[in-house]
Amino acid sequence: MTAADLFRKQFDSEPAGFWAAPGRVNLIGEHTDYNDGFVLPFALPQRTIAAVSPAPAGEWTVCSTVEDEPVSFGPTEPGDVSGWAGYVAGIVWSLRDAGFDVPGARIAIDSEVPVGSGLSSSAALESSVLTALIDLGDLDIPLERRPALAQRAENVYVGAPTGILDQSASIRCQEGRALFLDCRTYEVDQIPFDLAAEGLAILVINSNAPHQHVDGEYGARRKSCEEAAHILGVPALRDISVDGLADALGKLDDDVMRRRVRHIVTENQRVLDTVELLRAGRTRDIGPLLTASHASMRDDFEITVPQVDIAVESALSAGAYGARMTGGGFGGCVLALIDAARADETVAAVEAAYAGASFTAPTCWIATAGPGATRL
Ligand code: GLA
Repeated sequence: MTAADLFRKQFDSEPAGFWAAPGRVNLIGEHTDYNDGFVLPFALPQRTIAAVSPAPAGEWTVCSTVEDEPVSFGPTEPGDVSGWAGYVAGIVWSLRDAGFDVPGARIAIDSEVPVGSGLSSSAALESSVLTALIDLGDLDIPLERRPALAQRAENVYVGAPTGILDQSASIRCQEGRALFLDCRTYEVDQIPFDLAAEGLAILVINSNAPHQHVDGEYGARRKSCEEAAHILGVPALRDISVDGLADALGKLDDDVMRRRVRHIVTENQRVLDTVELLRAGRTRDIGPLLTASHASMRDDFEITVPQVDIAVESALSAGAYGARMTGGGFGGCVLALIDAARADETVAAVEAAYAGASFTAPTCWIATAGPGATRL
């Protein structure tokens, strides 16, 4: 069922409009966002669609093609609405809390973004609803302010301590571009990213590994980074450069904390190096940076699982230029930079490796850089 069909069935009328917001993959720059660092995501063609109409002031009803019951709410406080609808209530709350006059709305949701795969299905949901409410209410909120409003919904209302990567990607990405974002200043640079023109492709491998311990482990990584910044006397780990890394590590007693810091500092540099190579048209040369990022996540940040490690290794053995896990970790997806002509062989190699290890089969597809959130 489409969002339009669901809207008609649920509300017995036509929606006023449709809004779409994409999921994302992050090319490089993992866990750097909440350290005020750099990220480089691109938007997926898979999107969340919201069919929306105005409703009386102070009344919101939301339904979804994958949920049984619609959820209705009035003005709420953080945590009042839980589950999937909490992301929608969180957006309403965040806008109201920032002083905006949010229109009441009827909302029907359908999503193509796989849930629980680290492709930001929640940010796609938040961003589609946010964009719809801004348009319907004629709210004056520039694009660069929007991701932080959606992030507050997730941090404060839903209670997940995530950074600004996912919402920025869903809202600010452009078709055929990767979004180079400075998570401190919110400045962006749209980097041309048309791989097909170069005979290249990004293969996304969904490990289909069950997500385990995600919330607790994510929060623990964040806490460790913030404590390290405090000990080092800097506002955030972004303020440590690779040149200053040895010195910084020398000031930390805890070996685990030292490795967390090394990941963030080197990862920020890898993002900068990747952007430089892409700008110079040397796309193949970013491969080793992707692979080094994976090793850093595996060994220093310790957020990978055997399913993603095996996907990276088998893609590399099949000739990928580089490969890494993308997203928060503990499962989720791997991306591999490959020659477009070698996609089938690479998929076969990854599938064979999974079968050999008796893992649930992965799901693979070629990702292209799609547009950010928009009214359709
Ligand atoms: C999740 C979070 C993001 C970011 C990534 C890791 O996707 O939502 O804010 O921290 O993990 O890069």
